[in-house]
Amino acid sequence: MSNLSLEEQARFCLSQGQYSKAETLFLEAFEQNPEQANLLEGVARSMMGRKAWTEAKELYLLLIEQGEGNSAFERRQQLAECYFQLQEHDHWLAQIRSLIESNEVSQDRLVIYAQRLSMFGFQQEALRILNRALRLDDRQVGVHQAFAHVYLKLNERSKAIQSLSAVAALDPSHPSAIKQLSELLNQRVPTWHFPMMNDHPRNQAFEEAIIARLEEGDTVLDIGCGAGLLSLMAARAGAQKVIAVESEPEVAKAASEIFKKNGYDEQIHLVEGRSTSLQVGVDIPSKADLLISEIFDVSLLGEDALNTFRHAQQHLLNPNAKVIPAQAKVWCALVESDELRARFHVDDSCGFDLSTFNRLRDPRVLQLDLGRFDYTLLHEPIAVVDFDFENEISMLGQTLSMAPITQSGRADGFIFWYDLVLAPATEDREAIILSTAPNQENTHWLQGFAPCYDEQRQFTEGDLAQIICGYRRFLLWLQLV
Ligand SMILES: C[S@@+](CC[C@H](N)C(=O)[O-])C[C@H]1O[C@@H](n2cnc3c(N)ncnc32)[C@H](O)[C@@H]1O
Repeated sequence: MSNLSLEEQARFCLSQGQYSKAETLFLEAFEQNPEQANLLEGVARSMMGRKAWTEAKELYLLLIEQGEGNSAFERRQQLAECYFQLQEHDHWLAQIRSLIESNEVSQDRLVIYAQRLSMFGFQQEALRILNRALRLDDRQVGVHQAFAHVYLKLNERSKAIQSLSAVAALDPSHPSAIKQLSELLNQRVPTWHFPMMNDHPRNQAFEEAIIARLEEGDTVLDIGCGAGLLSLMAARAGAQKVIAVESEPEVAKAASEIFKKNGYDEQIHLVEGRSTSLQVGVDIPSKADLLISEIFDVSLLGEDALNTFRHAQQHLLNPNAKVIPAQAKVWCALVESDELRARFHVDDSCGFDLSTFNRLRDPRVLQLDLGRFDYTLLHEPIAVVDFDFENEISMLGQTLSMAPITQSGRADGFIFWYDLVLAPATEDREAIILSTAPNQENTHWLQGFAPCYDEQRQFTEGDLAQIICGYRRFLLWLQLV
């Protein structure tokens, strides 16, 4: 160090984070060379390093007033930083609003200013600054991430998704952006879309039913069109007009591009929104003759199918309109299974009692591939409830079914599945049924398992199990009496 000049020593200390020492050395150097204003700048930087914002601010104000040195722009940036740290927000705003007019401001600074403006609620101004930053270099991850942040504040989730996708494309290892993108997409575009679109038994059965039920001149309504597969099928089958409705903006945007790409954008009219808020004559041109809707989850009703179908019947369909699926039937059976029980229940593990954790189990049904589990049926599967989507739909109901026990055992829960009657039987053909039963080729829904929460309930061969199946809007449950 001793071979270095005072200024060199000061700069070294500054670079090492030894701010107090750097400040003293800069001051000593300035006393020796009072004509060198940049040494005072070193003092101010050291003050900032040790977070002496007021002293630094005063010094920068003095330096700016004297106008010495050739780094006026940088000094104003540092002064702005002091204002920000001192929470003198009006001064900070005035300072940065004049700074950002200059071409000298770097991309990194623009991003920081935009982030802070967004923090104070100036979202549109933040977006303008970020657009400037983007023009400087559109391959900087930080700019896209800052865009996403502002769009989320504005609740413009689709744009936030686009910005985060840009981050992911530039840096696939960016942890926070990837996590945020995945969370946003999962809320709006669940990952089941892909296996569903590739679900051959499902797709084939729907296409068969569409061909079977479509009549010349029919207007088709596809509620929850997703990527648009069923609308495309209807268009290919010769529908004159298809109205495809999709509530998720990102999904609707993709569907619109898919219709165009496949040459059906004239035949299919896409409406973005939830079907239950559509009005004929306002959002859609006319009522429909055929409703196609695949909005089912593993428990059948979880995507609000009852409410959606009922609303469509009352407001969006012509009298006697056909519906695909026309009906649904839910099946279940009580089973004993250590493997399935282990999916929702814990007692003793490695000699410790962990049963307290049982109160944290998810009350929803489990979705699983029954073919991969060992279980014993306590009785033959029984049909517990039917839904008729072509007639009046009730939003709640309950059935009581009797199941003669054929195998003694502990009732751990109900395995269940459903049949969708996509097209009822006619004189010319059999019904077209898509079943999620475990003895059929698996669909992407697989099967459901609803645990029995009354612990250790035992049945003996010859008993009659009484099973309640209840439903209420999007909830379907099974219960032992
Ligand atoms: C299970 S996916 C089916 C997609 C497509 N119909 C298919 O079969 O490939 C259901 C889609 O419907 C949308 N959706 C559900 N209920 C809706 C409603 N009432 N109005 C509009 N879209 C709805 C969801 O956002 C989702 O994209």
